[in-house]
Amino acid sequence: MNLTLKVWRQKNTADQGGFKEYKISGISEDMSFLEMLDVLNEDLSTKGEDPVHFDHDCREGICGMCSLYIDGKPHGPQQTTTCQLHMRSFSDGDVITIEPWRAKAFPVLKDLVVNRSAFDRIIQAGGYVSVNTGGVPDANEIPIPKSIADLAMDAAQCIGCGACVAACKNASAMLFTSAKISQLALLPQGQVERKIRAEKMVAQMDAEGFGACTNTGACEAECPKGISITNIARMNREYFSAVVSSDSV
Ligand code: FES
Repeated sequence: MNLTLKVWRQKNTADQGGFKEYKISGISEDMSFLEMLDVLNEDLSTKGEDPVHFDHDCREGICGMCSLYIDGKPHGPQQTTTCQLHMRSFSDGDVITIEPWRAKAFPVLKDLVVNRSAFDRIIQAGGYVSVNTGGVPDANEIPIPKSIADLAMDAAQCIGCGACVAACKNASAMLFTSAKISQLALLPQGQVERKIRAEKMVAQMDAEGFGACTNTGACEAECPKGISITNIARMNREYFSAVVSSDSV
């Protein structure tokens, strides 16, 4: 395949940035999108040019590090992660536009790499269960109905890639935050800190500058893990019930 790539190049956060066009040839349809970028970078390095910076880690659809906005969609034309997108989704002669996630809370660090530490701070605000270390409890000590366990595990599928924020016209992080709140609020182990968790995580989400949800549903449509927006409704219930019954705010 021969392709034309229009890639966002930006030296640093302060730089204005802009698109740069590259021609690339000999791309196999069996390559992943990131492997195609590896070929581009080898070419650029051979010519003594600065390679295109992009995020990646596991390349197996697990870690959530890959984060490219391809032809106007987070992670490109398939509902999957960028690392699991293959070049067979494109055709010979295509012009492919590659951008970083666009959101005020995700400033561009360089080229296609954005700073997603806002997500880390939302998790730090309450996305955990406090436990005393000790012996591992028996797996069946606390029975959990399968329907509840399934909902919790579905929410736990979120890999925190940020595609929901990139897809949303409001740059809202409510799908991410609600998945993290839901996976704990649904399970018995998450009950003790349930109220304070909802209050603190929502407050941190707002403090980071993410927008509000206006029920467009783009986040669910683009999420590589199919996280449901019913989690947002659950988060709103968790938050309101925490606020009306709490003396901590
Ligand atoms: S690189 Fe880990 S999910 Fe894509």
